[in-house]
Formats: sequence, structure tokens, C-alpha cells
Amino acid sequence: MDVDEIDLLDRDRFTEGIPHEWFTWLRANAPVFHHDEPGGDGFWVVTRYADIVAANRDAASFSSAQERGGVVTLEGPVAPIEGQEMAGEMMLFMDPPRHTRYRKLVNRGFTPRMIAALEEHLRDLTVRIVEDAIAKRDCDFVVDVAAELPLEVIAELLGVPSEDRFKLFDWSNRMIGSDDPEYKVSDEHVTNAQIEMFMYAQALAEKRRADPQPDIVTTLLNAEVDGDTLTEMDFNLFFMLLSVAGNETTRNAIAHGMNAFLEHPDQWELLVSDPAAHIDTAVEEILRWASPVMFFRRNCARDIELGGQLIREGEKISLWYISGNRDESVWDEPFRFDITRDPNPHIAFGGGGPHFCLGAQLARLEIKLLFAELAARVPRLESRGEPDRLRSNFIGGIKHLPVRLAADFPGRVTFER
Ligand code: HEM
Repeated sequence: MDVDEIDLLDRDRFTEGIPHEWFTWLRANAPVFHHDEPGGDGFWVVTRYADIVAANRDAASFSSAQERGGVVTLEGPVAPIEGQEMAGEMMLFMDPPRHTRYRKLVNRGFTPRMIAALEEHLRDLTVRIVEDAIAKRDCDFVVDVAAELPLEVIAELLGVPSEDRFKLFDWSNRMIGSDDPEYKVSDEHVTNAQIEMFMYAQALAEKRRADPQPDIVTTLLNAEVDGDTLTEMDFNLFFMLLSVAGNETTRNAIAHGMNAFLEHPDQWELLVSDPAAHIDTAVEEILRWASPVMFFRRNCARDIELGGQLIREGEKISLWYISGNRDESVWDEPFRFDITRDPNPHIAFGGGGPHFCLGAQLARLEIKLLFAELAARVPRLESRGEPDRLRSNFIGGIKHLPVRLAADFPGRVTFER
């Protein structure tokens, strides 16, 4: 392969599939690689598991702060982004110690007990979504199933009543914004969605303050750590962050999971043969395989060596989770989809460190419920067309996936948990 072929800014290339051959070449030949950027200074591309984990855990050297340019795009200067100052108030764009204080507060809403309390209700939601799709027989698995569940779950989490859910769905979809023409909306549309969402979050907070409920919103509003509490603006921004962070990510993990089962029917057969025995390791393998957040960026806060390469203060680096999750030095046959793989220390939720995905347990629960309930009802999956991939170099996404869910034994089966 010729190194000049590598162009991680070419979104169109990602619509043909993840360019794994580039990452494989980089891991072997240039694990910390300087990538050019038209009109900019370029960015470092980190592709080996060990280097990604090391950088992810060293927030003092590798900053997430918006003041240094944010973390979600490869392009752009290491400087504040004009007109997006508010983003800097989101935890994703903060460094310790500010991030630590904020994270302690919101952790209160995401304890294992809070997530476990949602499980029964989420199972009911999942069963409804799965049974509706089965009734159709031929479905667009992304639109009918993979996109539905995460949206319902966020609405549930935020205590949005069912009559208002379509609003939340509309705002989140508009705000995700995208390089893909199918989802593209005007900047004005995005701003309006943000404003409407803020007003809604504020009204919801007022309602919960007046009438506390045993839910995550009330817990967050009452959370106090070392004298800190969430301000109104903090709460609104968190509401917005959750709607975005928990939505497209989980949708695409589920979509890629289904696609992997279509490509590896023996693995579906195995799951169907004994869902309770295989579901937990299957969830981790789906996450490794999918890695729907392909990278996060950091901005170097001081001169530092990574993977034998000197990186200078002010330079940008990108940590490619999708590549680390295929690293030959960590997994045997990384390109084999194997739902029994154990251990499976994947980095789909980040490589550890302060920003490790807050919703990881919730996302795991969603994927588990969905594939377990599906395996209990659908012994055979049939592909009805090619996956239609998202035009993005950030989210590894599938927009449409035509599938026939051949349910020869309808009826609900409950697993031991
Ligand atoms: C399969 C689904 C998901 C994937 C692959 C995923 C992936 C990630 C990744 C890679 C990060 C950044 C880690 C880092 O920089 O070290 C992250 C952060 C985050 N995720 Fe997730 N996520 C998923 C689902 C969710 C869900 C369901 C929620 C919430 C309902 C959520 C909320 C968040 C939040 C709030 C952060 C920021 C944490 C911080 O800055 O401290 N995510 N996620």
C-alpha cells in the first residue's frame, strides 16, 4: 500500500466502508503518523492500542478543553471555535480539575443502581420495538429498530413524557448535524433545535424542583458534591449532551451488530442456540467490532513523546479507537467476529481516563436487551440489501440496513439475569 493513499479527511471513502487497510498499515509502519490537512498544520494519527490508552489516560498532556480547539473534529485550529463558546461548558470539552468536579455531580445519575432501576421498563420498550419490526417481516433495521431504542431510552432517562417524545427525537436528529447529505440541516435549524431543547430542559427542571420524582433528573438537580451543584445552564447543557452522546452512538453499535451477524450467520446461530450463555460476551464483541465513535481528538498541552514520536505543545492528535480495536498485538485474529471472545478489553467507550463514556453501562444494557430479545424470537436473519453507510469520518454509521427477520417461533422468552 502507498502511504499517499491515506486520506482520513475524505468522508466519501468512509461511505464505502471503514478503511481498515489504512489502519492496519499505519499500526505496522507508522503508529503515530503525521497527517496533512489542507490549509492547516495537520494532525497526528494514533492507531496502536497501547498508545491510544496511554494518551487517553494522560489528560494533563492531552487536553480536551474547548479553549484548545475541542475534540470532535480533525480539522480546525487549536484555538477557541468562534460562536461555539457554550460547547466549552460541556464536560466533553473540559479538563481536570473542572471536569472532575462536574463529573462527580453527574455520576450521581448514572450509578449501577440508577441504571438497574430502568431495566424492566427498558425491556418492555425493547420487546415492543422488536415485535413491531418482526410483524413487518422485512424492515429497515436501522430506522425501525436501531434508531428507535436509544431515543426512547434517552427520553425515559430524562423523564420526558411520551406525548413530548417526538420533540426530543426531532431536536436530537437536527442537532447531530452531519456531513451526510441525507441528514444535513441548515445552521439555523440546528440553533433553533438547541434553543427549543434548552427551554424544554429548563421547564422540566422547574417541574422536578417543584415535584421531585425518583428519577435521574431529580437526582441530578439535587446532587451536591463538595458544595458544588449543577447550575441551570449546566443542567440544560447536560440534557443536550446526553441527547447527542447517547443517541447516534448506540444506534450504530446496534446497526453494526446486526450487520456483523448477517455477515457471520454461524455467530447468530450460536447466540440463538443459547442466548443467556453468550449474550454478555456478544455485547462486548459487537462494541469492539462496531467502534461507532471512530476517534476522539486531543490537543497537546506540552511537548511529549508518544509511541517514540515527539509531539509538540499546541499540536493536534487523534486517537483512533476503531484501529486500536483491531490491534493484532491485543487480539488473536482481530478481523474475526467472535461472540465468545473473552477477555475483550476493547476501547469502544474510550481508552480509560477521566472522559470514559458515562453511558457505557446503559449502552451495554440496551445492546444486550435488544439482541437477547431478538435472538429469542428470530432464529434466522436474511439480508435484503447492502448496508447504506453514513458519510462521516467521526461516527462509523449505517443509515439503512434492509433485513428480513424470519421469526418461526414467536413468543416471549425471558432469560435469567
Ligand atoms: C455504544 C454506545 C456508545 C459509545 C460507543 C460511546 C462512546 C464514547 C466515547 C468514545 C467517549 C469519549 C471517551 C474518552 O474521550 O475517553 C464517550 C463519552 C461520553 N459518553 Fe458515550 N458512548 C456510547 C453511549 C453513550 C450513552 C448511551 C450515553 C448517555 C446516555 C453516553 C454519554 C456520554 C457522555 C456524557 C460522555 C462524556 C463523558 C465525559 O466527558 O466525562 N454515551 N462515549
